[in-house]
Amino acid sequence: MKTLIKNGLVVLEDGPVSADLLIDGETIAAIGKADEICGAGKEEAAADCRVIDASGLIVLPGGIDPHTHFNIMTSVRSVDDFTSGTVSAVFGGTTTIIDHMGFGPKGCDLHHQFQVYKEYTEGKCVADYGFHGVYQDLDEQILEETASMVDEGLSSFKMYLTYDYRQSDEEAIRILKRLGELSGMTTVHCENHAILTWLREKFLAEGKTEAKYHPLSRPPYCETEAVDRMIDLAMAAGDQPLYIVHVSAGESAERIRQARQAGQKVFGETCTQYLVLDDSVYDDPQEGLKFIMSPPIRGKEHQEILWQALRDGTLLVVATDHCSFDYHGDKQMGKEDFTKCPNGAPGAELRMPILFSEGVSKGRLDLTTFAKVTSTNAAKLFGMYPKKGTIRVGSDADLVLFDPEREVDITRLILHDNTDYTPYEGMHVKGWPILTMIRGTVVVENERLQVKPGFGNFLRRGKSICDL
Ligand code: URP
Ligand code: ZN
Ligand code: ZN
Repeated sequence: MKTLIKNGLVVLEDGPVSADLLIDGETIAAIGKADEICGAGKEEAAADCRVIDASGLIVLPGGIDPHTHFNIMTSVRSVDDFTSGTVSAVFGGTTTIIDHMGFGPKGCDLHHQFQVYKEYTEGKCVADYGFHGVYQDLDEQILEETASMVDEGLSSFKMYLTYDYRQSDEEAIRILKRLGELSGMTTVHCENHAILTWLREKFLAEGKTEAKYHPLSRPPYCETEAVDRMIDLAMAAGDQPLYIVHVSAGESAERIRQARQAGQKVFGETCTQYLVLDDSVYDDPQEGLKFIMSPPIRGKEHQEILWQALRDGTLLVVATDHCSFDYHGDKQMGKEDFTKCPNGAPGAELRMPILFSEGVSKGRLDLTTFAKVTSTNAAKLFGMYPKKGTIRVGSDADLVLFDPEREVDITRLILHDNTDYTPYEGMHVKGWPILTMIRGTVVVENERLQVKPGFGNFLRRGKSICDL
């Protein structure tokens, strides 16, 4: 089956060009003018191919969201499984997700959660998908086992500096060293456990239990201290690659900038919510529960620093950390005590539309940077490039067609995830994905899902590319 996408503005890695794309089977076969790339006149091309007219549309590499938590079991289970999660992702133009697996039972080996997640995803996904491994109890055997996980396609792992399975500085160095040897990527959740525990206990002792004490118990310096420390630990481990997830604070971005300018292989990810929401979301004690996530939403002054960091290549990826719990359900566990509220919020579907609207439409990001931070950079860092993350001959035909003029008022009712709220209710966006294609198959068109759960493939990811 061939498809010809005509007359679009195609965002290549070097920048946007007016071009036609020929897709043959699952991959991009040619980029150019229809007459030339089809080797025949327009009419013949039309007879041979399905033709999609992309006049007035922008053709982008399908999005990669490298930070989701679908079907995760924390104190309670999240409400989006791998079907509703990936369905919402593809409606938003994301064609690949990499899910951060949750912790398993105490003492389990690395493969335990891999097996659990194979079961969670079997026949469930509509987008292509992979997993980040997760470290919990660390010993020599676990470090040894890392090699076989990398061989099996899990070439990146997350470690936490807080929560019950946090790693010590010594353990962090050993992980960085081991993954560096294996050409894998260490990703890390940076929050100082002592600071946040101390402040939480202090607030609770003072009877300060409302949602607004969540961000106050995890101030920007709680994140930045951990970012700073991890950058030094990555250097001590032999200048190993380090990817810092969900950067929310301007000071953390500044520290990453310094390290990158010094030539260190440090890579930063932020998330949609930190770019467009501010800490006034916690003013209402009830509504504030919707935004309890870690790190928390910051003061408005952080937003412009994060946008600038995306523009200048300090932060390389925009993800979502989609981890959803119903507001009228489990989020209410935090009603009397913010520390009891399950952490996280939905976002996979709106990542690209919001970043397009607030970034491209408002002139904060050019299209080339937009494609990099929503797709290409994640493909490189997480071992999927150039199969994924780029529009070039031979790459998977994973594409999203954006209508830059379409305006939409966000409401929960138009979204496709399972969560009973969206953090972006009432937001107005300009620019909307109208067609999503994965490996040459149209998966969303005319506001309808065109494939069935199970269409998505597991991605066996390879080595990280770190020269970016
Ligand atoms: O609050 C959040 N972000 N929950 C998801 C887990 C994590 O740390 O990324
Ligand atoms: Zn995290
Ligand atoms: Zn997360």
